[in-house]
Amino acid sequence: MSLRLGDIAPNFTAQTTEGEIDFYDYLGNGWGILFSHPADFTPVCTTELGKTAALQEEFAKRNTKVLAVSVDPLDKHRGWVNDINETQHVTVGFPIIADPDRTVANLYDMIHPNASETFTVRSLFIIGPDRKVKLMITYPASTGRNFHEVLRVLDSLQLTANYSVATPADWKHGEDVIVVPAVSTEDAIKKFPKGVEIVKPYLRYTPQPNLD
Ligand code: BEZ
Repeated sequence: MSLRLGDIAPNFTAQTTEGEIDFYDYLGNGWGILFSHPADFTPVCTTELGKTAALQEEFAKRNTKVLAVSVDPLDKHRGWVNDINETQHVTVGFPIIADPDRTVANLYDMIHPNASETFTVRSLFIIGPDRKVKLMITYPASTGRNFHEVLRVLDSLQLTANYSVATPADWKHGEDVIVVPAVSTEDAIKKFPKGVEIVKPYLRYTPQPNLD
């Protein structure tokens, strides 16, 4: 059965460009992003891994480890990393799993046979420190993902985990957030000293709590 939000992300060991990895050990106590791409030496995938490499510091700031996967073998990954570094002007500093026997792809349901019998689609999972799946997105091979959107979701998830707030449509870092329905207005006023704007009893905003 495929994974759903809130499920425990399954552990695995895998060969990667950075050596053998135990997924849970690699994540440690932090957050994780596991994302698949269809194939090495392909244009969209090259830009996606390049963008991820360019944003490595942003992921690190959010205590988040990144891990890519495809069904291509390790020697192919190694050659392709050189191309990514050269063409995208980055240094890939995160592991890429070689999954030729599809262990990880099957565990995370990354092969959608009606899209491709052979290759993983563009699946992406955000996994919390509790090892639970917090976000799942699936894109087709022809559309590169927006990694700034991935960071935006990560910020939203971390605000929810740390402050019991949610984020409205199109929210961006620095904008007001929403007090979750589980928090009463009385408690919200105590909890959020920067103020609570009550538009409706169920629609209450407060400034982003983790900013000075
Ligand atoms: C790409 O990364 O460009 C790509 C990979 C597989 C199918 C189509 C495009």
